[in-house]
Amino acid sequence: MTDSDFPTPPEGAAADWTIPQNWADYTPEEHAVWDTLFARQAKMLPGRVAPEFIDGLDVLRLSKPGIPDFEELSEVLMKRTGWQVIAVPGLVPEEVFFEHLANRRFVAGQFIRLRQQLDYLQEPDIFHDVFGHVPLLAHPVFADYMQAYGQGGLRSMEFGAIHKLARLYWYTVEFGLIRSGGEQRIYGAGIVSSYGESIFALDDPSPNRIGFDLARVMRTKYRIDDFQQNYFVIDSFESLLKQTLETDFAPLYAELAQLPDIEITEILPEDRVYTQGTQAYANGKRQAAE
Ligand SMILES: [Fe+2]
Repeated sequence: MTDSDFPTPPEGAAADWTIPQNWADYTPEEHAVWDTLFARQAKMLPGRVAPEFIDGLDVLRLSKPGIPDFEELSEVLMKRTGWQVIAVPGLVPEEVFFEHLANRRFVAGQFIRLRQQLDYLQEPDIFHDVFGHVPLLAHPVFADYMQAYGQGGLRSMEFGAIHKLARLYWYTVEFGLIRSGGEQRIYGAGIVSSYGESIFALDDPSPNRIGFDLARVMRTKYRIDDFQQNYFVIDSFESLLKQTLETDFAPLYAELAQLPDIEITEILPEDRVYTQGTQAYANGKRQAAE
C-alpha cells in the first residue's frame, strides 16, 4: 500500500490524514494543563517506569515549555531514531495508523484534556499520545518495535487478523510491564500517562501480572474502560522486538483462528505467573455498579 491509497480523509485533513498542529493556537491554560500533568508524572515515575523512558523524556524537555511543538519534537526525534510525530484529527482508520507507523511516523491527537479531566479521559489526548508514547520512540530498540508493529499491522489486514494483533499493541505499547534491574517497571503509554494506573499497575494486589508470551497475548481479551485486570511482563525490549521479528505471523494467525479467546482474568497452566491477582478492584467496581 502507498500513501495515495489511504481512505478518504475528513475535510481539512491532508490525503494522509494529517492536519497542522497549529501550536501557536494553544491557550496559556492548555499549556498549563500540560505542565501540571508533566510535573506530576515526571515526579512520580522515577523508580516505577523503565529507565529507558526517563532517558527519552529529555526529548520532550528539549521542546518549548508547555505543549510540545511537533516540528521541534520531530527534529530531535528524527536525529535519534528517525521518527516523527504528526497530528491527526482523532482516531484514524487502522490502515492509516499502520502505514504511518511502518514509515516511522507516530500519529498524535492535538487537543488536550480540560483541567477538570486530569485523571479521566475517554479519548486519548496529546498528553497521552506525546508524553505516553514519544519518550520510548527515542529508544532505538523500541523505535524498531513500533515500526515492526506497523508493518505487521499492514500484513495482518490480509489475514483478517487485526483484532488479534491489536491485542499485542494493547498489552505492550499501551499497558506493558518490563523486568528491569530485577524488578517490574511500567512502560506502556496507557499506564505512564495515568497517575492512578502508574501506581495500580505495580502496587495493587488486584491485577494478574504474567510473563509475556506473544501467542498468549494475542488470544487474550482486554478492557478499555478501566484499569487493566492483566498486565504482561516482557523480559526486555530486545526480546520483545526479537520475538516480533522472528515470528512467522501467517501460520500463527491460522493456528490462533482454531483456538478460543482467553478470558480476561483466566490463568493458564503454562503461564509464568508473577502475581495471581485478587481482582478485588474490578470485582468491587462491578458490585458497586449492580
Ligand atoms: Fe496510546
